[in-house]
Amino acid sequence: MQRLTPEQLRSHRWYGTETLRSFSHRARTRQLGLSAEEHMGKPVIGIVNTWSELNPCHIHLRERAQEVKRGVWQAGGYPVELPVMSLSETFQKPTTMLYRNLLAMETEEMLRSHPVDAAVLMGGCDKTTPALLMGAISMDLPVVFVPSGPMIPGAYRGEALGSGSDMWRYWADKQAGLVGENVMSGVEEGIARSPGHCMTMGTASTMTSVAEVLGMTLPGAASIPAVASAHSRMAAASGRRAVGLAWEDLRPSAILGAEAYADAVTAVLALGGSTNAVIHLIAMARRSGVELTLDHFDEASRRVPVLADLRPSGGYLMEDFYLAGGLPALLGRIRDLLHLDRPTVSGRTLGETLQDAEVHDDKVIRRRDAPLSAEGGLAVLRGNLAPAGAVIKHVAAEPRLLRHTGPAVVFDGHRDLMRRIDDESLPITADSVLVLRGAGPRGGPGMPEHGMLPIPGRLLRMGVRDMLRISDARMSGTSYGACVLHVAPESHVGGPLALVRDGDLITVDVEARRLSLEVPEEELARRRSRWQAPGTVYRRGYGSLYDAHIMQADEGCDFDFLTGAGGAPEPDTE
Ligand code: FES
Repeated sequence: MQRLTPEQLRSHRWYGTETLRSFSHRARTRQLGLSAEEHMGKPVIGIVNTWSELNPCHIHLRERAQEVKRGVWQAGGYPVELPVMSLSETFQKPTTMLYRNLLAMETEEMLRSHPVDAAVLMGGCDKTTPALLMGAISMDLPVVFVPSGPMIPGAYRGEALGSGSDMWRYWADKQAGLVGENVMSGVEEGIARSPGHCMTMGTASTMTSVAEVLGMTLPGAASIPAVASAHSRMAAASGRRAVGLAWEDLRPSAILGAEAYADAVTAVLALGGSTNAVIHLIAMARRSGVELTLDHFDEASRRVPVLADLRPSGGYLMEDFYLAGGLPALLGRIRDLLHLDRPTVSGRTLGETLQDAEVHDDKVIRRRDAPLSAEGGLAVLRGNLAPAGAVIKHVAAEPRLLRHTGPAVVFDGHRDLMRRIDDESLPITADSVLVLRGAGPRGGPGMPEHGMLPIPGRLLRMGVRDMLRISDARMSGTSYGACVLHVAPESHVGGPLALVRDGDLITVDVEARRLSLEVPEEELARRRSRWQAPGTVYRRGYGSLYDAHIMQADEGCDFDFLTGAGGAPEPDTE
């Protein structure tokens, strides 16, 4: 293993040379209150923190940053906290996905422009994980990721409540007239009881698990509840390890090869993870110079069983998963499907980190011979309605809808949907196919999580709880139902979804991986010739940059100028 000398540290160019600039940097560090002995010759560890008072999933990260600093000091490093924007899934509108690439850019440039030798990335709420990792991958500095950790289970009158999933369920019950205000106010009080990210296997738990299986966290980090003492210990240990990473100069490019991404896909499927992982992993892989496509997910989905019995696909919550052994225990169960010899930030191979992994509860982490579902939870559909692909999490859908033909009921954008969905005169039956367009990466804008279209109240009252829904939107990882998502190309750029009319027959056949609009090609050509591209809502600012450069869902929704590895020079420090 290589070990840098203090003169080879990146920060040496800021602090250690005989130049006016270096003199100025040392003087300004005195101004920060640090003597030369406290920092000179030590690796500078940036603590990239997404703490915010509008992000309940990260509200404990200010405290955790102190624990990371403790670890950095203990190991002989110099910690510096670098606040970056927080992407609060709950509060940020129109959608955090609009800003994922902005946080990725901020992370990359923050690390590049400062005297940082290695970094600890702190996040967990949905898009923060891919954003921080995408930025770090592009900068290619040694980093360790500290997941914010899931919150404790929700509770209402003795019932465990899961983030998102149980909110949608209770809301549907309320719309169906089955529960009243008292129940809803009890659920409101009890569904989010502590700091930490959503504690179902939603996007947050999926993406922090992805960070771990990729080898970018300490082993076991992703499953630790946010408020557990073990979480504080993991934060301090990550700080200590970041110092080691700086000396070893172990960069993401040495960790994140094709095998790492293949294992991440496998883990997402075994977890019954969020469909959002498809987009984020493709974007991350492209930044690593690794080709990852929808087909990789579909191929893996046919052979990887879903073993984690976690909501929304299963029944348990993240604390149960942690107590059952957490991600290492699950990975131990699919050891034969993984690449065990690849490196991780821990300094050990993936296989070595799984050596002691043990499942403590077969109900939560199922045995291979008793999976939640024999096939993985995602299918990639293609056809004349989605030439570049669409995804469905079929493990979370009613089986009767996995092969279905029905008449389309089309909504142009989310506003139109909310205005008309409960219109009693709409010809919607349980067999209708609800279509939402104008909700993709450009049309949304930001590809909001509107893909779990609400079921009309009239049908809810009749007991209907799932319908076939198709959109170019995403869906929250905590959602469920027969929702075909990420239809590409999106309608806003002229994808076939733009051509669908009320009453057109649409067929979904998950087994055959087919999504078809049953309209003759000549008629579609006629409609296409009359189609007019919608304009952009942005005239200036970040939105116009986004609109000009965002790529489609099957390409990971990165900006076209950010994909690919390397390409940016180190700043001149003289
Ligand atoms: Fe932050 Fe769900 S709202 S993870």
